[in-house]
Amino acid sequence: MKQVKILAIESSCDETATAIVQNDTEVLANVVATQIDVHKRYGGVVPEVASRIHVENISVVIQEALVQANLTMEDIDAIAVTKGPGLIGSLHVGIQAAKTLAWAFHKPLIPVHHIAGHIYANALVKKLEFPLLALVVSGGHTELVLMKDEWSFEVLGTTQDDAIGEAFDKVGRVLRLPYPGGVYIDRLASKGKPIYTLAKPKTEDAMNFSFSGLKSSVLQFVSRMERKQETFEPADLAASFQKTAIDILMEHTLLALQANHPKMFVVAGGVAANSGLRKQITEFVAPKFPDTVCVIPPLACCTDNAAMIAVAGSVAYRHGVRADFSLTADAGYELES
Ligand code: KG4
Ligand code: ZN
Repeated sequence: MKQVKILAIESSCDETATAIVQNDTEVLANVVATQIDVHKRYGGVVPEVASRIHVENISVVIQEALVQANLTMEDIDAIAVTKGPGLIGSLHVGIQAAKTLAWAFHKPLIPVHHIAGHIYANALVKKLEFPLLALVVSGGHTELVLMKDEWSFEVLGTTQDDAIGEAFDKVGRVLRLPYPGGVYIDRLASKGKPIYTLAKPKTEDAMNFSFSGLKSSVLQFVSRMERKQETFEPADLAASFQKTAIDILMEHTLLALQANHPKMFVVAGGVAANSGLRKQITEFVAPKFPDTVCVIPPLACCTDNAAMIAVAGSVAYRHGVRADFSLTADAGYELES
């Protein structure tokens, strides 16, 4: 059997990444150059700076991946690249590099949706089974996606305002935690108790999410305490915010599980690293659905990397998904398109 090798490039936000995957899920190389230390200074990702650093790093990570896998470009069957969504300037760097490789070495080019990558990261843990329900929780996304089959995506619900990771990062800023705040809130929350009641925004469509009201509720709480010159325990506020956010995610997830009875349920994206969310799924959601296999990826698979784009790219390759050299970045790329 031919060993299909896909080289993938991911540059949608602040990680410049390249990976090489063989036969869908054998990771031969996985290189990530993170820019987090630079953006930390500004308290968030500065798009212009991100694009510039991607330009500096992209050829280095591609070269490093080939060295790690002990391969040359001649051994590669196709190039997969994140088309979107993400920061437009950042996406363009990865796409230009992918097009250049595809052109110079006569390789097929495969456009990949970033969220499809996050979902397929779970295939590195367990063989995916369909129908599959995915809860995608990242810095840019909060989505419940139903996959009736291998390469079909139906978005059941999405956020009407902030993404869950964005809410974590904004609350992190209010609590004067380093950027990105998600992991720091997680750690702080483990030392506190969820004693404060915060707003739980409602949406017209029960499957859609809203987090901006919750974030404002934290902000208002802090301003109120400061105005009254009262003190509060930041760990308790972090725990209250985290619990409310997870409750919202779980309420919607339970509805989607009850309505669709999938064979598999997976969590994806950077916020899947959250210890409270992982615990809630393991102890509360999974036991309610004994016929559904629940997969929570290891931490390294949760945040942005190119192995996930290579896995999704391998499936897309088999399904005949191709792009020509007119391929361009799409900051608002739709999963169902
Ligand atoms: O998937 P990802 O690496 O990038 C995007 O595609 O957005 O997700 C990054 C997001 C950030 O908002 C970060 O704060 C959040 O994931 N995050 C966490 C945790 N670790 C990362 N949020 C909550 N708890 C964590 N442990
Ligand atoms: Zn991501």
